[in-house]
Amino acid sequence: MNWWEGEFLRVRNNRLYLEGQPAEQLAEKYGTPLYVYSRKQLLRNLRSLREAFSPVPAGLEVRVAYAMKANPHRGILKTLLKGGCWIDAVSPGEVQTALKAGFSEEKIIFTGTSICQKDFEQVLQHPGVTVNIDAYEQIDLLEAARRRSRIRQPVRVSVRWNPGLGRGFCSQTVTAGDRSSDGSPIKFGVEDSRVLATFRRLQSLGFKLVGLHQHLGSGWTEEDFPVTVKAVDRMIKKAGELKKAGFELEFLDFGGGFGPRYKEEQRLFPLPEYAAYILDKVERAKLGLKAIVIEPGKHLAAEAGVLLVRVEYIKKSYGNLFACVNAGTFNTVPRPAIYEEAYHEIVNASQVNGGKKQKVTVAGHLCETGDVFGIERILPLPRCGHILAILMAGAYCHSMASRFNLREIPKEIVL
Ligand code: LLP
Repeated sequence: MNWWEGEFLRVRNNRLYLEGQPAEQLAEKYGTPLYVYSRKQLLRNLRSLREAFSPVPAGLEVRVAYAMKANPHRGILKTLLKGGCWIDAVSPGEVQTALKAGFSEEKIIFTGTSICQKDFEQVLQHPGVTVNIDAYEQIDLLEAARRRSRIRQPVRVSVRWNPGLGRGFCSQTVTAGDRSSDGSPIKFGVEDSRVLATFRRLQSLGFKLVGLHQHLGSGWTEEDFPVTVKAVDRMIKKAGELKKAGFELEFLDFGGGFGPRYKEEQRLFPLPEYAAYILDKVERAKLGLKAIVIEPGKHLAAEAGVLLVRVEYIKKSYGNLFACVNAGTFNTVPRPAIYEEAYHEIVNASQVNGGKKQKVTVAGHLCETGDVFGIERILPLPRCGHILAILMAGAYCHSMASRFNLREIPKEIVL
């Protein structure tokens, strides 16, 4: 069995099946390139997450707020709504889309960075939404938006702080700490020394302070565990300080970041240990919380999607072999073109195994050298007309795709 096989992806007669349907047949029926998502896989991922966070201590609720930036497809949102999820939204557009999919205002947490007053006004049209402030400097904008919106009910506000520690699979996806792994400054969250002042100012303006939030980054693996639990400690300590200052919080939101398996050799983030650590620390700290929140994006969605592309021809040049496919990374699976560290497994759906293995670069149809789905992968040489599946394409692929070169963003189907 291949490492990536499971209930969603199965090999039968040397061909790839997606939730029991031959990938080639789907490619034929709907055309390529094509995103194929699995409802069942989403729910399996949700279940494994909930299992990691169980048993939940009495009196506490674990809210799973799906980071919809990963993939806001309506079918995915509706599936996760049925699965009992909340939503982490980062723009007024995401708030609207979540509401349209059926999420209630009360189940949406809006976390914006570099926000303008109009953004807040649009969000406050839905006064049940919790607004997560990312800067002391946002308070005046929020207050101005509230005045203009003439809202009567108290607005629920939480504060995203930057605990001074962050982790991500590459420098662009570290979202806390003073600087990222490549030395660039980090724009997110309220710095430690200003958290209390932010709470006090919001309180003096009559906002209802309900939570403290942090998000360290995206794509954690096993080696990130020590830092992530250190950040949990810092969060609990900070919540204790706030409690002493008179702020009784409803929830602590630990953000997302848990990486699914992109590569065979990847050592997985120990989610059950992390969850147990959080639950234990929260229980002991006696903070009087009602809930803890987590905001997974890629953990839920990545594995639940693949992109199918067609091999048009095999090109040889200066001793290099290229499988040239009918899609461009920027328009479909842009992660390898953006992040040097991003990796997506490529499977020949028409002939999974067999044939002499060779070094093949899977190249897209855009005018950019970086437009390659995989560089020098050791694969049996595909043939013209074969369908390749780019795995882990359910998160941050369609949502980050552009129309670069005036190519279309492909169709999506949900099985
Ligand atoms: N919460 C907040 C406030 C976030 O900003 C993010 C992601 C998440 C939760 C979810 O993180 P996840 O569980 O998906 O790691 N484009 C990058 C990922 C950037 C994520 C940014 N924020 C990628 O393709 O890997």
